[in-house]
Amino acid sequence: MKGGGAYINIGSSSSSINSSVSGSGSGSGNGSKMTLGKSVKMYLTIFIATTCIYMVLYQYHMSREPFSPSEIGKHQEKSSSSSSSYIASYLWSPMSLLMANNSTSNNATTTTTAATAATTTVSNVAEVQGSSFGSIQSVSLAAAATRPTQTSSSASASVGGGHKPATSTSTTPPPPPATVTSTTTTTRTTRAKKATANAAKALATSTSMSQAQAQYQLDAAHKTRPTFVAASEPPPLYIITPTYRRPEQLAELTRLGYTLKHVANLLWLVIEDANKTNPLVAHTLDRIGVPYEYMVAPMPEKYKQTKKAKPRGVSNRNRGLEYLRQHATEGVLYFADDDNTYDISIFEQMRYISKVGMWPVGLVTKTGVSSPIIRNGKLDGYYDGWIGGRKYPVDMAGFAVNIKFLRQRPHAQMPFKPGYEEDGFLRSLAPLANDEIDLLADECRDILTWHTQTKKNPPAQALNKTRYSNTNLEHIDKLLVRP
Ligand code: UGA
Ligand code: MN
Repeated sequence: MKGGGAYINIGSSSSSINSSVSGSGSGSGNGSKMTLGKSVKMYLTIFIATTCIYMVLYQYHMSREPFSPSEIGKHQEKSSSSSSSYIASYLWSPMSLLMANNSTSNNATTTTTAATAATTTVSNVAEVQGSSFGSIQSVSLAAAATRPTQTSSSASASVGGGHKPATSTSTTPPPPPATVTSTTTTTRTTRAKKATANAAKALATSTSMSQAQAQYQLDAAHKTRPTFVAASEPPPLYIITPTYRRPEQLAELTRLGYTLKHVANLLWLVIEDANKTNPLVAHTLDRIGVPYEYMVAPMPEKYKQTKKAKPRGVSNRNRGLEYLRQHATEGVLYFADDDNTYDISIFEQMRYISKVGMWPVGLVTKTGVSSPIIRNGKLDGYYDGWIGGRKYPVDMAGFAVNIKFLRQRPHAQMPFKPGYEEDGFLRSLAPLANDEIDLLADECRDILTWHTQTKKNPPAQALNKTRYSNTNLEHIDKLLVRP
């Protein structure tokens, strides 16, 4: 009974140890010796129990530890100036177990912690990103997470798109990608993830390192201590994609669409060279889930009839420009043909173009590449298989334009002049000095976009309806685009 009481009540036991010490000093009887013995036993038990608990916790923590012991060793060397040991501070921190858990778990499951980080500080990158590939992964997840919100706002502002039959056709302001705010946890998680990618970008721009290196350094830094990263939306991107009816159309749009899905804060303007929209295209765009507007802009009859080269995609792109003048106020516009190939990092770079940005395009004719020529850090002409008297002999995939700058040139548009579309459009942006052109893709030393072409396929033959009645082929047949 007494013993039990002592084990439970530490306060009373400590008073009994005092009395036992004074008792033994005065050399008095067995009672105080017994008390001393019990107290020592009790303290030993508590000590052993505590040690055991910490050993168990430490073992558990190490089993979840994302870094190898050697990395921890290196880490300690690096942070030798810091007063406390990494392991000790990590072990003693009540948050340590939580963080060890989160850093190894899937991004998608860290919602709660990451959301907290976003609303206060982004306190630990390990919570948000598990690896140095985190930036790409998180942008991807971020994009996916924000889509539903953005798509719905885009649908409500549909202009003649017809992709959401029930929505209004008013010309209300555009789906403003930058102003989509949601208080859902998912969106806030997204922000935290984007912020770290942004931080890597900022670091990469302020120094001359690549973004991947910067991200790696950031990740390493975050293993040392939490860093504050302010979260905000990056400038919006408006991607104008001309398209036209052909057997390959849905395949091209699907491929491009899923590329764009990796890019946050983007509105995809899909503009078809046709008199009316095609529900199959709308269906494809809906399924991809990138915020979009689907519009039509037919090529004028006189160009359709010609036996010579046609100005392909020009009325589509001019329709896109018109849309932007009505609805967009900031950000950057890019003409992305539906058949080309794009590395998503070019999108992150083009967001910050101040007037016009240019970069190389791979696989253009037998020259292999079309690119600005940079000499002594300055734009000094263009390399292209065909110059043709052009001031700007560049490919459609090789430049982007700031929206504010575009709006300062109200007459800028693309001419219906085959071969001179890019040149004509860029000329219409005058005045534009060469040193006002931002040189992207590592100052034009890298290729991030390719002018690719899909082999043309003959239209599918008609389905034998009698033979295949009541089969799945009846459904599939309706999904094919025939000219
Ligand atoms: C090249 C350039 O990259 C285009 O930007 C330019 O418009 C074209 O040449 C030209 O000068 O005619 P290229 O690959 O040869 O492009 O052309 P396509 O890919 O066939 O067409 C460019 C874009 O216009 C595509 O997005 C395509 O879907 C669209 N297009 C094409 C139409 O909207 N209508 C058409 O009749 C043909
Ligand atoms: Mn093409």
